[in-house]
Amino acid sequence: MTPSAHLQGEAWGARVLDWVQVQQPTIRPAYRAVLDELGPWTGLPVLDLGCGAGEFAALAGGRGARASGLDACAPLVAIARRRNPAGAFVVGDMEHLLFPDGAFSVVTAFNSLHFADDPVAALGEAIRVTRPGGHLVVAAWGPPHECDAVTYLLDLGALMPPPDVTSSRWDATDLGALQTLLGRYGLSLSSWRVVACPWEFSDLPTALRGLLSTGPAAQAISHSGWSRVADAVTASIAPYRRRDGSYLLSNTCHYLIATQTDGAPPAGPAPSSQVRPSQSNERGDGEHQTRPG
Ligand SMILES: C[S@@+](CC[C@H](N)C(=O)[O-])C[C@H]1O[C@@H](n2cnc3c(N)ncnc32)[C@H](O)[C@@H]1O
Repeated sequence: MTPSAHLQGEAWGARVLDWVQVQQPTIRPAYRAVLDELGPWTGLPVLDLGCGAGEFAALAGGRGARASGLDACAPLVAIARRRNPAGAFVVGDMEHLLFPDGAFSVVTAFNSLHFADDPVAALGEAIRVTRPGGHLVVAAWGPPHECDAVTYLLDLGALMPPPDVTSSRWDATDLGALQTLLGRYGLSLSSWRVVACPWEFSDLPTALRGLLSTGPAAQAISHSGWSRVADAVTASIAPYRRRDGSYLLSNTCHYLIATQTDGAPPAGPAPSSQVRPSQSNERGDGEHQTRPG
């Protein structure tokens, strides 16, 4: 594993129960939208990269898929194995997959690709293991103007160790750049959907359980201490507190679906096939362009 995957695995493993019980389920509407859009799943080999506790794999398995997963975090993979006893769930680095070429009909990465030290390498591996005619799905939280969570993330960022300024990483949450890259790999792009994924917490202790369980929160806590991080997070979510003491942060998740053609490596200029973001059937209110396509 790369040193970064090792660090990520430790960070996401720091508060596993809080993550699994409170925070991770907030992305469920995106899982459901992908499952509805890409079916039927019966018999399909599926790989979820950065699978966490294996919830997407379990939902895909419930629709008949043969789901496997990979994640850098051993405690999360242990839960994923319990939830998916029939699948192969491995602790590993998405930059170096041990699966053979073209092994999967669908490869997914929900809010995980951008944690790789080299997301382009991780993307290349994801494409390599997708069979011709198969689909690659990449999901990430939406842009700042669609996500109340941005304040929380910025506040955490200020309490984390300084970023490596020598790194020139591609920002894998930028799905516009991602689709250009996918086009360069020869994949054809079929959709870009926007799904509402609100973060709702019944009270402050529950909100803190969820928001302090993420990998970035764990890194901020080890750098700045629990109470500074808890205080900062409490302040950053204060605008979203409702009268009954519960919290609602409105957020979106965006996902792209691309189809593998021949697995060719990047060469030449990007083709012109571009898709635009549109509201998923989860909300069902038609096309909603939020980013330049
Ligand atoms: C935000 S969580 C998303 C988990 C899951 N996909 C979900 O939808 O809830 C990011 C996950 O990526 C994993 N991760 C980060 N870097 C990784 C790497 N280089 N290789 C494999 N997994 C990685 C983390 O351990 C964590 O479980």
